Amino acid sequence: MEIKGLRNIEPYVAGIQPKVDNMIKLNTNENAYGPSPAVLAALAAFDGNGLRRYSSLEQADLRQALAEQHGLEAGQFVIGNGSDDILSMAFLAFFQTETPVLFPDLTYGFYKVWAQLYCVPYEEIPLRDDFSWRVTDYQRECGGIILTNPNAPTGRFQSLDDIEAVLKANPQVVVIVDEAYVNFGGQSALCLLDSYPNLFITRTFSKDASLAGLRVGYGIGSKQLISVIQAVRNAINPYNVDAISEALALAAVKDWSYYQQACRTIMETRDWFASELRELGFELLPSATNFLLVKPSLVEAQKLFAHLEKEKIYVRYFPSQERIKDWLRISIGRQDEMESVLASIKECCNEQTNTTSGPA
Ligand SMILES: Cc1ncc(COP(=O)(O)O)c(C=O)c1O
Repeated sequence: MEIKGLRNIEPYVAGIQPKVDNMIKLNTNENAYGPSPAVLAALAAFDGNGLRRYSSLEQADLRQALAEQHGLEAGQFVIGNGSDDILSMAFLAFFQTETPVLFPDLTYGFYKVWAQLYCVPYEEIPLRDDFSWRVTDYQRECGGIILTNPNAPTGRFQSLDDIEAVLKANPQVVVIVDEAYVNFGGQSALCLLDSYPNLFITRTFSKDASLAGLRVGYGIGSKQLISVIQAVRNAINPYNVDAISEALALAAVKDWSYYQQACRTIMETRDWFASELRELGFELLPSATNFLLVKPSLVEAQKLFAHLEKEKIYVRYFPSQERIKDWLRISIGRQDEMESVLASIKECCNEQTNTTSGPA
């Protein structure tokens, strides 16, 4: 018997989480380094007995700590179960529209999924050939805008002047700026909050704060936007942030200098790795993130992907995305890991050159 009323939706396809010993995992842009010692100490000190109670509704301490970190007010923050939670709620809270919401054709793949899931009309705007977005494409009537800056999976950062031009042209709709990777060389739109009450910024603890497995993210905006998204949160899951996450995220914010150092180290490794790949003739986009989008030379992306996978090196390959089917997205690991990755890439390129040139 056919069951009626079932939802049919094409889901977001997340990067795989292989359980393999001694792998080098560079497929989901996780942090190369572990959480700060203060976070691990907070985890060890956590009172498990407290778990019989529900977690807090307000995350007052965490919001206050974030407010101090960013020079804002606690009332400008909303906390979620990862920034996916915040972004998903933002689609519900801010895009009640019949006019399409705009985002680039190449960006975080979840936006399209949420738009479809929540029946939000949307339009994907093609990026230029160099994978940057055109300001004028976003200066038109629309139901809202979402831009990732720096963008994923391209890694490209676009100037705050461009973001401001988009905000200025669209005072009547919400403009979301997803800053998941901003601390790897981008510049935050936080300084525009005072001037643009329609700006909503999302952040995550998964990348710069090395807590992807914990699931904490947050949104920052005017008190008006925060009160709307808080209401949506209370309409779905008021206890969306568990007590352990709240305690550990707070410890992370209080030990932020540890993370600043880790991010600097990752950026140094990224720039070294990028220059090595350029020497091999690879095409690369400039990256302000903890990953690189690269187009291999000498060897096809799919071949290199398979070669690396055989060596237990996991990177991301997007064969179904026409514009980047010849590219690979490689997260930046520790320096020693990236040295192994480089050696493996060179091996693959050499094998390919030997095969194509044939025996002497
Ligand atoms: C651009 C972007 N936004 C948001 C997220 C979601 O991050 P999380 O839910 O782990 O906070 C990701 C994760 O990869 C991302 O790449």
